[in-house]
Amino acid sequence: MAETIAGDVDYAVRGVGYSRHRRPDPRIEAMIHAALGDARTVLNVGAGAGSYEPRDRLVAAIEPSDAMRRQRPPSLAPAINARAEALPLDDASVDAAMAILTVHQWQDRSAGLRQLLRVTRGPIVIMAFDGEAMHRFWLAEYAPEMIEASRRRDGPVAELQAALSPPGRRAEVRPVPIPIDCTDGFTEAFYARPERFLDPEVTMAQSTWAFVAADAMERFRRTLAADLASGAWDERYGAHRTMPEFIGSLTLVVSVPG
Ligand SMILES: C[S@@+](CC[C@H](N)C(=O)[O-])C[C@H]1O[C@@H](n2cnc3c(N)ncnc32)[C@H](O)[C@@H]1O
Repeated sequence: MAETIAGDVDYAVRGVGYSRHRRPDPRIEAMIHAALGDARTVLNVGAGAGSYEPRDRLVAAIEPSDAMRRQRPPSLAPAINARAEALPLDDASVDAAMAILTVHQWQDRSAGLRQLLRVTRGPIVIMAFDGEAMHRFWLAEYAPEMIEASRRRDGPVAELQAALSPPGRRAEVRPVPIPIDCTDGFTEAFYARPERFLDPEVTMAQSTWAFVAADAMERFRRTLAADLASGAWDERYGAHRTMPEFIGSLTLVVSVPG
């Protein structure tokens, strides 16, 4: 089947090694599942290969990319080919909804969030990067183009919180601590393992690099490799190598009725 590009990147190209490099992290998973409360039916929008999908509840998964749907393990429900902006579900038909590291890719984020509010009776749990907090990461010094692209793409998490707090609901933002050995290879997951950025497969599984020009990417790799070899990175940022966790831009936005 031809690949549908519903977001802002082509997962037929960037999604191929996704499930190998983006394995759900159990500590982050525990936070997401706790936020879903006692929901029995859960909608997972932008479900990808199924990371963080609960195994002990009834799940409906929505995923527009064929390459991502094909990476779902057979133990999970097949995902429906649809987009957040037009959810094929009735009003108030699921107990809870989750959208994990996906809203930054939606073509019409407001429409997608309105759809989540329409179909969900209980908690809506969004995991997203706060575009306003990206600069806390040391990568800002080495790849400012990447941080700027993230800032533009992700936007302020306060906007998500406002959109998910219509009358009759309240939403809160919870920082998600990133463990030093995080198994989900998003950018900040490697705060203590800078060498990993030198592996092209690792950056291929981090979609924001698609918005960084080839010459900037090349300069980033060259400079980081040189600083790692000379010890300059460790002199400035070496303390990160033993920090048990990093509070960066990763957040959960949790909207509940009330
Ligand atoms: C970074 S992946 C995250 C996948 C999964 N939630 C996870 O945590 O691994 C983002 C996913 O959002 C999907 N996506 C992009 N635009 C979308 C849209 N408009 N509606 C629903 N999903 C979309 C992509 O196809 C991709 O699978």
